[in-house]
Amino acid sequence: MTNPNPIAAAQAAASVPRHVALVMDGNGRWARQRFMPRFFGHKQGVDVLVRAVNAFADRGVEFLTVFAFSSENWKRPAEEVSGLMGLVLVAVSKYLTKMAGEGVRIRIIGDRSAVSDKLRKAWEQAEAATAHNTRITLSVAFNYGGRWDVVQACRQALAAGVKADEVDEACLSKHMALSFAPDPDLFIRTGGEMRISNFLLWQAAYTEFFFTECLWPDFGEAQIDAALAAFAHRDRRFGGIRPPELAPAGA
Ligand code: IPE
Ligand code: IPE
Ligand code: MG
Repeated sequence: MTNPNPIAAAQAAASVPRHVALVMDGNGRWARQRFMPRFFGHKQGVDVLVRAVNAFADRGVEFLTVFAFSSENWKRPAEEVSGLMGLVLVAVSKYLTKMAGEGVRIRIIGDRSAVSDKLRKAWEQAEAATAHNTRITLSVAFNYGGRWDVVQACRQALAAGVKADEVDEACLSKHMALSFAPDPDLFIRTGGEMRISNFLLWQAAYTEFFFTECLWPDFGEAQIDAALAAFAHRDRRFGGIRPPELAPAGA
């Protein structure tokens, strides 16, 4: 049913974030709590992500961008890094058909030059197979860093012949890895750390932050609802002031 009050309708729509950014942290600690190798936590983390994508989509989120491997995660032991690379390949073959059928559009953001040909091909296949989907866009940040993103955007702009006095925020935004999405409204980080760890630096200029102690493999609908409920109470001003017509009744 359409809401007869346009202001209330605008408020209701604004209370669900269009774009959620997610740092899926805590897999290693979750595994350690179970006396299992870190890989066990990563493996569980993939299954949890597939369920989370659906849950966010059901709640009206249009874009979900997840941090799967940072530009700094190469510092981890070689065994963990190769385990993660293998896991992504397995995840694509295990879940691609299911996600494609559920209306998920998959995009990969990050520096692809450092990953194997096999993985690059798997990603291209996942992107092509889901390009027409419209229910939710899942962007997987892999070998991604916010600083890398700014640098690659500058390089792309220069390569496109943009002159120094033509460089502005809109121009760089066009070349950033998430140019197809609005800036994230809500940034969720699991695992208890309260930092960005070089995720979406440019895009998070006015994003609302939500940190939870919950370790990523334990993240489910209850945590999603808690984050969305907290977001609905945020007063976003973008540097301006809150228009009086949007203030809650009686305020
Ligand atoms: C996040 O979990 C997954 C990746 C960085 C790939 P961690 O592996 O960082 O888990 P913790 O933080 O050590 O518990
Ligand atoms: C951030 O988690 C990266 C991902 C979740 C992929 P990290 O575990 O790498 O972050 P730090 O090292 O604790 O900042
Ligand atoms: Mg971590």
